[in-house]
Amino acid sequence: MSKVVVMDHPLIQHKITYLRDKNTGSKEFRELLNEISMLMAYEVTRDLPLTEVEIETPICKAKSYVLAGKKLGVVPILRAGLGMIDGILELVPHARVGHIGLYRDPKTLEPVEYYCKLPSDVTERDLIVVDPMLATGGSAAAAIQFIKNRGCKSIRMMNLIAAPEGIERVQKAHPDVDIYVACVDEKLNSHGYIVPGLGDAGDRLFGTK
Ligand code: PRP
Ligand code: URA
Repeated sequence: MSKVVVMDHPLIQHKITYLRDKNTGSKEFRELLNEISMLMAYEVTRDLPLTEVEIETPICKAKSYVLAGKKLGVVPILRAGLGMIDGILELVPHARVGHIGLYRDPKTLEPVEYYCKLPSDVTERDLIVVDPMLATGGSAAAAIQFIKNRGCKSIRMMNLIAAPEGIERVQKAHPDVDIYVACVDEKLNSHGYIVPGLGDAGDRLFGTK
C-alpha cells in the first residue's frame, strides 16, 4: 500500500487557513496556492537521490552533492492544478510540465478527459501529479491511469486538501503511488465537495464564479 504524508508544517497550515477563507479573492488565492505548493514541493522531493561530485571552492577542492537519477516532471490536472505550477517550478526550474485536462461531470461526479499533453521523454522522468483538491478521487485516479498508460512508472501525487474518500480511492486504484497532502478534511457533501474544504478551487483561482 502507498504511503500518505500529511504536511502539517505551521507555515503551510497558516497559509491554508487564508486559502480556505471565502473572503479571500482570486489574486490572493493564486499567490497563496503557489506559496503552499512551493513549500509542499520541498517535502515531496525530500527523498530524491543525490550523487557525489568534486568541485573547487575558492578555498580548496571539495566533495559535494547534486541531484542524481531520473529527471522530474510535474503534471497539473486542469484547471486548478495550473495554480500550483509556478510555485513548484521555483524549486525545480528544470522540471518538464505535462498537462491533463479533466473535469468532473456534475451529475455522475466521474471525470471527463478533454486534454492530455505530456513531455516526449515522460517515461524517463519521476512524475508529480498535482491538483489542489482530492475529493472523490475520480480525477486523480483517472489522471494517474492516463500517465501509466503512457508507460510511466514513477509517480507521486500532491494535493492541498483531501477527503478520506479520495485518498482511499487513489490508494485502491494505484497502491504504488504515494500521496502528499497538507490537510485531510472531514468528508464530502452530497455534491461531492470537500467539507470544510475551500469550495471550487478552479473557480476561486480563475474568478469564474
Ligand atoms: C476539481 C479539482 C479536481 C477535482 C477533484 O476540478 O481541481 O480536479 O475537482 O474532484 P474529484 O476528486 O471528485 O475528481 P473540476 O472538475 O472542478 O474542474 P476545474 O478544475 O476545471 O474547475
Ligand atoms: N473540486 C473542488 O474544486 N472542490 C471540492 O471541494 C471538490 C472538488
